[in-house]
Amino acid sequence: MLIKNDIAFVNKYKEIGLPSETLIWIHLFRYKATEDAPAFSSPMWLHKDDEDVVFVHLIDSSKNMLGGESLIATDAKNIERVIKLEEVFDTLVVNHKKFHAVTPVGCRAISSEDFSTRDIILVTFQKVRKDL
Ligand SMILES: [Fe+2]
Repeated sequence: MLIKNDIAFVNKYKEIGLPSETLIWIHLFRYKATEDAPAFSSPMWLHKDDEDVVFVHLIDSSKNMLGGESLIATDAKNIERVIKLEEVFDTLVVNHKKFHAVTPVGCRAISSEDFSTRDIILVTFQKVRKDL
């Protein structure tokens, strides 16, 4: 259902053509952080992805997680939004019009063995370049 909704969105978006003419990739990520070892997205700075449209779906995050906010920016000096995906299946969609980044994930540790997690599914759509 998740992917089906993403495909329907891209269908309506129209700017990258039909989903049948795009490469769709699904990436599963787990950020795992301890108090002394934060987890970083790659790249960790403001950027635009290679893919034309990227859906970021939150699957789970532990209650002791710190950070993990998404930043949306017009350029490196103008962050215009800070968004936190909090509920299961909260979704952010990014494209080439704005820069984005994710703040490092930390852990509010109670004991030295504690760790925090943030689980994400990325669904990416890349228009097939016919000129290549
Ligand atoms: Fe990205």
